[in-house]
Amino acid sequence: MLELSQVTKLYNEGQPGELAAVREVSLSIATGQVTVLEGPSGSGKTTLLTIVGCLTRPTQGRVALHGQPLSGLPEQHLARVRRQTFGFAFQRFNLIAGLSVLHNVMLPAYPLAQPHPQLLARARDVLAELKIAHREATRVELLSGGEMQRTAIARALINDPAILIADEPTANLDAALTLQFLDIMATLKARGKTIVMSSHDPRITRAALVDRVVTLADGRIVAEAAGA
Ligand SMILES: Nc1ncnc2c1ncn2[C@@H]1O[C@H](COP(=O)(O)OP(=O)(O)O)[C@@H](O)[C@H]1O
Ligand SMILES: [Mg+2]
Repeated sequence: MLELSQVTKLYNEGQPGELAAVREVSLSIATGQVTVLEGPSGSGKTTLLTIVGCLTRPTQGRVALHGQPLSGLPEQHLARVRRQTFGFAFQRFNLIAGLSVLHNVMLPAYPLAQPHPQLLARARDVLAELKIAHREATRVELLSGGEMQRTAIARALINDPAILIADEPTANLDAALTLQFLDIMATLKARGKTIVMSSHDPRITRAALVDRVVTLADGRIVAEAAGA
């Protein structure tokens, strides 16, 4: 459903510090599958995830969703596709301190401008599903690590995206929280979500729910394997 063809991403293009973070990567991501990008730090995982999620445009190559090319779309149109298609859970959660759990979760929905009562109901449904509803009024900096993680996942799901993107989701998480994360992902997979994660954590790369592990080195795909 999501197809990358010969994608290259240069940082500092044409400048002395030019660097190819992703090099000629072709990858197709099937609907409903769990794909993990693994590789050492600096191998291009985060950059590739931002291209998959249309947060970054590739310097060269094409990205297509359901056969529709996205690379050439004007920014406004691309932003709409991005909001409606992808949910993002970043490394270290990127929650906004000073705002409540509820407000953090609703943030990605504001640009879609749905009626407020509907959005509030939706946010509360997602919080309940992630077992964090009792914390809706708490400022996020006061949460435990597990609660932050569930809040970040709730925020990624607020627009009911078909594709969930998670960048090193278990970095700095203990064993129990990693299992909790995997349980949540398994539930989402069972519901038909497509999941793309980066990780060099064997607890993730060898997890039963993973369909495919793609190994990056120096911006290129160097191996691909079926999941455990
Ligand atoms: N915004 C940026 N500007 C310049 N170089 C960057 C930027 N982001 C990442 N890089 C470089 O691109 C390469 C790939 O980085 P990244 O995609 O973050 O890899 P990973 O997530 O596997 O650690 C690294 O060499 C990194 O230093
Ligand atoms: Mg990274």
